[in-house]
Amino acid sequence: MAGPILVFDSGVGGLSVVASLRRQLPDAALAYACDNAMLPYGVRDDDWLVERILAVCEAAVVASGCIGLVVACNTASTLALEALREHLAVPVVGTVPAIKPAAGMSETRHIGLLATSATVARPYTLRLIREFAGDCQVTRIAADPLVVEAERWVAGERPDPDVLRRTLSPMAEMVNLDTMVLGCTHFPLLRDWLVAAAPRRVRWVDSGDAIARRAGQVMTDRDCRQGRETGWVTAPSEALSRGLSGFGFTETRLLSLG
Ligand code: DGL
Repeated sequence: MAGPILVFDSGVGGLSVVASLRRQLPDAALAYACDNAMLPYGVRDDDWLVERILAVCEAAVVASGCIGLVVACNTASTLALEALREHLAVPVVGTVPAIKPAAGMSETRHIGLLATSATVARPYTLRLIREFAGDCQVTRIAADPLVVEAERWVAGERPDPDVLRRTLSPMAEMVNLDTMVLGCTHFPLLRDWLVAAAPRRVRWVDSGDAIARRAGQVMTDRDCRQGRETGWVTAPSEALSRGLSGFGFTETRLLSLG
């Protein structure tokens, strides 16, 4: 069996995981699928989202002929990973907020979680916190405006520093905070901007490298060297096509949901 590894997100966030995959699996061909027509996912209703994620991923797996799927989206993974594994015939690797590694690194035992409003409130996330950061204070910050800023950045526009500062302003009160989890794959794309806008110095932790490692383990027996480097989108957008080509997806195609 041969084909690319398919990376899925609502928008450009999965490109932060693509960067890790390209570093760790340099010979693997990748394909990318995003549901830009319905972005952002983080403020949508759960039942609707599960149906939508299944429909888009099923269509993208067939269209790309992939050997495996990386769900490079915390909002989708914390909700629909089991349903995806039940429905799809290829292996599925998910993304969850890096609470465990962050708790392992924190010296002050106060960590933060920066994610979409959906992810910060999910039972899955609360379980992760209970299980792996039980002895930490964990402050959750819903940061949906950063999704839009990351989309702008990949499309070639500068993120708005006022939006970044406003979104990170709760950090000013957290005197002991030493580690911040980037629990949305869009956010590592803004890392330098976030460091500059944050009211205090912290360690920023994301899941990109761990996901790439896991994908390498799960898909290693399959031939992912062949395949086309195509970006699949649900709405045509020149800016998005340009952004995708910057990450190696030189061909953009419209995904048909049947
Ligand atoms: N990149 C997605 C994540 O990791 C969410 C972006 C969105 O709200 O659509 O959660």
